[in-house]
Amino acid sequence: MSSAFDAEKRLQLLIRFGNEIAHEPRLDKLVSLIGEQVREILNADRCTVFLKDLKSGELWSFFAQGLERQEIRIPGGKGVAGLAAQSGDIINIGDAYSDPRFTMDIDKVTGYRTRNILALPLRDNRRGIIGVFEVLNKRDRTDFTEEDEGILQLLGAVAANAIENARLYENLKSAQLETIYRLAMTAEYRDQQDTAKHLRNISVLSYLLSRAMGLPADDAEVIKLASPLHDIGKVALPDAILLKPGRLTGPEYEEMKKHTVYGARILTDAQSAFLRAAYRVAAGHHEKYDGTGYPDGIKGDDIPLEARIVSVADVFDALCMPRVYKKAWSADEAFKHITSEAGRAFDPAVVDAFVTVFPYARKLYEPEANLDEITRKAEYMLASAGKKVKQA
Ligand code: C2E
Ligand code: SIN
Ligand code: SIN
Ligand code: FE
Repeated sequence: MSSAFDAEKRLQLLIRFGNEIAHEPRLDKLVSLIGEQVREILNADRCTVFLKDLKSGELWSFFAQGLERQEIRIPGGKGVAGLAAQSGDIINIGDAYSDPRFTMDIDKVTGYRTRNILALPLRDNRRGIIGVFEVLNKRDRTDFTEEDEGILQLLGAVAANAIENARLYENLKSAQLETIYRLAMTAEYRDQQDTAKHLRNISVLSYLLSRAMGLPADDAEVIKLASPLHDIGKVALPDAILLKPGRLTGPEYEEMKKHTVYGARILTDAQSAFLRAAYRVAAGHHEKYDGTGYPDGIKGDDIPLEARIVSVADVFDALCMPRVYKKAWSADEAFKHITSEAGRAFDPAVVDAFVTVFPYARKLYEPEANLDEITRKAEYMLASAGKKVKQA
């Protein structure tokens, strides 16, 4: 059955598959890439990847064609996927609706009609089960063959490995993110009552401004990560200046301005893309578009883009929040201030972006604001606005 030609062909499929998925570190992108490829290679109609919830033991649909918005959870042992995870065996079912092992839970949600189904448990390096791969409805209306099982087993082994690596990477990324926030907190907790909120607001605002300016999500993400470090140089300022309740004297203000230079010194010669962006932000976030800012008085596009973006986010947030030296402004007052400074303090293109996202940005200052929800809704608005422009 398995001729030399088949073996050769399989090997080539596997190599291509391995190469394509090796370069994708993000877990969600990776799993959908794997799903698409497996579907294509097995000539199946759909593919679902369930991952095991390490705490509850449930399987949840991480990726499923036709199920982009919803998430299905399967209790341990239930359904074909649950049985595959429990037994550790591959399950091949020719006629799903007449098989007692099949549950129609997912079909009920998607309106899809599952005919046949091939379910493979995914194992990590220590042979523990991390999820289940389901391939649905062989395209030529035949059943999945033993050969299909073999191919899926090969692909599943590569996929499980890649998923495990991506999980490690995501853990590392969130640890890194936490470190950044904690570092930034040390610089700011002295002069602000609600430092964590301030930093998260700046992150969200910087991200949305970047997206509204048309930057790709990856670049916006870097600016989002870098922005909380903009005032890191304040660690070097004495309390007498940073915590002064009233207005600063001339010499005190001169001293205060040095936080940009200190920040640049702390972040100089960094290796990673986001710390290099953080350097540009720390150094340039008080420069003004017309050249009247500090520390260098550079102007226009000589000011790095990240700094021009974070500058708007920083001032808007500073105005909307209380400080030892000032009361909180209303979002509308702050809006007027920002727009009146277009071409003076701020890059007009960033101010345009700010006007676009302001209906969402102002929600950050409402009680119990949900930052993730605000971000999601704003991105949705930007995406549909983008589509309209393209169609016009
Ligand atoms: P910050 O409080 O985070 O403010 C960041 C920027 O937001 C300010 O940069 C300024 O451009 C804008 N901003 C904040 N509050 C107001 C305001 O009431 N009116 C206007 N027009 N703009 C405002 P700036 O001025 O370069 O200040 C940098 C940092 O210096 C501030 O960061 C704050 O930590 C400190 N600072 C500035 N002025 C005073 C002051 O009068 N007293 C004290 N204690 N600190 C001050
Ligand atoms: C199951 O694993 O029983 C559910 C299969 C499906 O509908 O995708
Ligand atoms: C002001 O209250 O207008 C000055 C405060 C600042 O610019 O940071
Ligand atoms: Fe600053």
